This record gives sequence, structure tokens and C-alpha cells, in this order.
Amino acid sequence: MKTAVYPGSFDPVTYGHIDIIDRASRLFDRVIVAVLNNPSKTPLFNTDERLDMLLTATREIKNVEVDCFSGLLIDYVEKKEATTVVKGLRAVSDFESELQMALMNRKLNRNVETIFMMTSSRYSFLSSSLVKEVAKLGGCVKDLVPEYVNDQLMKKFEKQF
Ligand code: PNS
Repeated sequence: MKTAVYPGSFDPVTYGHIDIIDRASRLFDRVIVAVLNNPSKTPLFNTDERLDMLLTATREIKNVEVDCFSGLLIDYVEKKEATTVVKGLRAVSDFESELQMALMNRKLNRNVETIFMMTSSRYSFLSSSLVKEVAKLGGCVKDLVPEYVNDQLMKKFEKQF
């Protein structure tokens, strides 16, 4: 069974991420969407909230699982007996840091491959950070995230006003 891990912060999941998850699910037997639980960062949504939104967004895709991890990605990939790390590339600006991470991960475990999937052009401008900024300032992000995520963003920011 070919298992891939698609890691990220997913704070929150966007249609750009879902596009990658959907397409990766057609290439692998099993795709694990792995949310980084990083205690040194302060995300808008805590790990449980991010997992909940991902579960809701991916429940129709049968071979996709949602999980969280802390520590080194490569250790998590090994633990899950996965062979591949899947990453999305939006633009050239993503490339440099992604290349560094891919090479470092290969140095740590040369049996794990990183593959890059080009984000669909309609989502190439999209990032969780921009979605949060626009939602926080009262802009509409309905076309950029699933309805459930939009609702969670509204709830979060209503509380702040
Ligand atoms: O969605 P993001 O924030 O771009 O995801 C970054 C992520 C989670 C993929 C990356 O920070 C990561 O793999 N972190 C785990 C710690 C680790 O393995 N660091 C060494 C990477 S070379």
C-alpha cells in the first residue's frame, strides 16, 4: 500500500489545500493529512479545531485520513510507514524553502521522496494567512474556504470585535 503524508499548518484549511488533497488521493492508496502541532507557534485555530475543519472538508474522500504530529516530519512519516511527502507549490516564491525542506528531509531519510504538486491556477494566490487577514478585516472569503471553515472564521473574529 502506497501511503503519502501531506503535512502543513492548515490554519485553516483552504480550497487550495483541498485541491491538493483530492488530487493526491487519486495517486496514492492512502493519504494522511498531517497537522503540525507546534507549541512555539500561536495559530488562530488550535490543533483540535484545525483537525475538525479538515475532517469535515475531507469526509467524502475515502482514502484520506486526518492526523496531527509534533517533532520531525520525517519521524512521523517513518512511523506511519509512508513512502512519500506531498507538498503543494503555488509559485516560484514557494520553491526555495520547499527545496531546502525536501533536501533536508532526504538527508534525514533517503527512502522518503518529496513530491510537489502544482496548485491549480485558480488557487495560486491563496494562503491561510491571507484568508485570515481578509476575514479578520471583514472581507468575504466564501469562495476560498469550505462553508464550515468560513463559519468558524466568522465565529473567531466576531469574538474579537
Ligand atoms: O503549512 P506550512 O506551515 O507551510 O507547513 C510547514 C511544515 C509543517 C510542513 C514544516 O514546518 C514541517 O515539516 N515541520 C515539522 C518539523 C520538521 O520536520 N522540520 C524540519 C523540516 S526540513
